[in-house]
Amino acid sequence: MRILVTGGAGYIGSHTCVVLLEAGHTVTVIDNLCNSSAIALERVQELAGKPLRFVEGDIRNRADLDRVFEGGIDAVIHFAALKAVGESCEQPLRYFDNNIGGTITLMQAMEAHGVQRLIFSSSATVYGQPDSVPIKENAPLRATNPYGRTKLVMEQLIQDWCAARPEVSAVLLRYFNPVGAHSSGRIGEDPRGEPNNLMPYIAQVAVGKREFLRIYGDDYPTPDGTGIRDYLHVVDLAVAHLKSLDYTAAHSGCEAFNLGTGRGYSVREMVNAFQIAAGRPVPSQVEDRRSGDVSELTADPFEANARLSWHAKLELSAMCADVWRWQQQNPNGFINEA
Ligand code: NAD
Ligand code: WQD
Repeated sequence: MRILVTGGAGYIGSHTCVVLLEAGHTVTVIDNLCNSSAIALERVQELAGKPLRFVEGDIRNRADLDRVFEGGIDAVIHFAALKAVGESCEQPLRYFDNNIGGTITLMQAMEAHGVQRLIFSSSATVYGQPDSVPIKENAPLRATNPYGRTKLVMEQLIQDWCAARPEVSAVLLRYFNPVGAHSSGRIGEDPRGEPNNLMPYIAQVAVGKREFLRIYGDDYPTPDGTGIRDYLHVVDLAVAHLKSLDYTAAHSGCEAFNLGTGRGYSVREMVNAFQIAAGRPVPSQVEDRRSGDVSELTADPFEANARLSWHAKLELSAMCADVWRWQQQNPNGFINEA
């Protein structure tokens, strides 16, 4: 199939492009590189041993999208979004415009060009503070920050579009905590500036770029007091997009699926696992809780297991080993190579 990947130069998008090319799909990427590097796409092609088409453009720009769709597209995987929770609180309008505005323009272009299959990157953030864990897809939805609200609104817009257009098939994938990197060490997560997320922060401490990890609270009602999350390997996550493409071929309407392992790890467990993988200490210091954080978030991935035939296969040791390989081989991310 001919797949358009929006945001394909980014962390999850680049790993998904490798999996799509390896599975024999034709891939077009549109990305404005606002949080990524074109070098990632060179490496994607090198890893897959196949070319892709890259259009540097913005999903809010209808002319850019028309240019892409005119090449012929069968399905869209929509990653392009801004994703930093803290930044979204400071710049909500930028987030609404980019994420929600971009998704509306994308759906308009899909409709104009007769493209009927959409896989959307949603997030566990749509569950806010859950009543209980593990979380099922029918749990109450209540985002707690502007970024999360953009995901919630985008889910609803896609649902409304599907209701009005029975020929459209959409899958909303609610990712829990994606970590890891390609096992080659050639592509991985490349945060700009100080990482917001735990795993890249730990990796930068281990490689000596940062002095110590701040553990945001050890007084949560969890066994060791630190927050628990459902971390899943980005390559497993990439495979879920492939499975979702198959699902859209056989189903119409709009369905949401949780993507996680179903197993939670605490911050301290993550630090310990990374120290073992890297063979280096990761110094840490306990600080106050981070505002907006919840104690525990884990997925019930039953629906994705049963209906997408998808299972997270890669263990925490592989997640850590792969991040460490990527971090060591690319201490400054994609920046060092011209
Ligand atoms: P990322 O920032 O690495 O990738 C997003 C890509 O989209 C970047 O390459 C960026 O340049 C591009 N982009 C952003 N706005 C664009 C626009 N208007 N036009 C064209 N390109 C644009 O992020 P990621 O971690 O790969 O996340 C991918 C998707 O998954 C996002 O939608 C994110 O909200 C969602 N998600 C991520 C996580 C996570 O922890 N990484 C968790 C849940 C959901
Ligand atoms: C994990 C755990 C922190 C950093 C975020 C977004 C969510 C989704 C995934 C996009 C928590 C602790 C973290 C640090 C720490 N993204 N931590 N020190 O908060 O579960 O989810 O990313 O959709 O929307 O909110 O992930 O990696 O930031 O935190 O102690 O320096 O690590 O308190 O318990 P989170 P995270």
